[in-house]
Amino acid sequence: MYFLRRKEKGMKVICGPASKELAERVSALTGFSSLPVAIKVFPDGESYIRLEGSVKGEDVAIVQTTCPPEQDGKLFQLAFMADAAKRGGAEKVTAVVPYLAYARQDKMFLAGEGVSVETVARMLKAAGVDELATVNIHSETALENFPFPAKTLSAVPLLAEYFVQKGYEGAFALSPDKGAMYIARQAQQVLGGDAGHLDKQRDRYTGQTVQTAEGLNVKGQTVIVFDDIISTGETIVGAAKILREKGAGHVFCACVHALLIGDAEKRIHDAGVEEIVGTDSVPGRVSKVSLASLLSQELKAQN
Ligand code: R5P
Repeated sequence: MYFLRRKEKGMKVICGPASKELAERVSALTGFSSLPVAIKVFPDGESYIRLEGSVKGEDVAIVQTTCPPEQDGKLFQLAFMADAAKRGGAEKVTAVVPYLAYARQDKMFLAGEGVSVETVARMLKAAGVDELATVNIHSETALENFPFPAKTLSAVPLLAEYFVQKGYEGAFALSPDKGAMYIARQAQQVLGGDAGHLDKQRDRYTGQTVQTAEGLNVKGQTVIVFDDIISTGETIVGAAKILREKGAGHVFCACVHALLIGDAEKRIHDAGVEEIVGTDSVPGRVSKVSLASLLSQELKAQN
């Protein structure tokens, strides 16, 4: 994929309200100056956004995640910031969106559906976005029909490194379905142990899933379940149940986007998972790994 190269002049990091801390860390690591954003929410729920500084003639990176809750509001804020940047004379607008909402609706699974993630991309393009970087998008093919250059970075090595630092080098890296085996492989490269996957079938109408484990041998091993997203926690709870049946030792889980909807966190712990580790793509209690270094490297490489 071709990602636009910029001239050697640095850029400004616009601190989106949904990722303010992360954006400030990126600014500190890259040395690119940060630009604060004033935000107000009107009594009717609409957002007002104003960039607090000049972007005239600048390349800008808007750091704004679009995770729940209120992902639609966060998406609109991102679009408003892109529009404000372009109207303020920014030369190039890069949207840095750690969690990209609607990425799982990346094709028409059933007749009558749309492709939500492409609608989102077209909306961002219309607002002024010239290119986009995200992190561990559910499926890379989602980016193929975007109306601008777009790429996905992987935070999995950072998650695996967290466990190495805690002394779990050599742990088994497990993905909860075959499609996510590439994630387990990336983790394995850092952890240095074995890797494997479960199988998961989802009923597209009911959303129910069935998980199975053909020939998985994890007896007595420390296992870390790696996934891109934890939403309701059902996938991790199911995996933990299988791991218990298979006689695994310690069980942890790591995911890039820990949405943890409802009582997911409690259900996962109740299932025997000792620790849940996520990133600041979804700021919260389990966002123990920051994406700042990953995003900074990317922005520096483009400048
Ligand atoms: C789907 O295939 C994803 O990779 C995740 O496994 C899924 O989104 C997790 O959802 P939940 O936590 O609701 O099981």
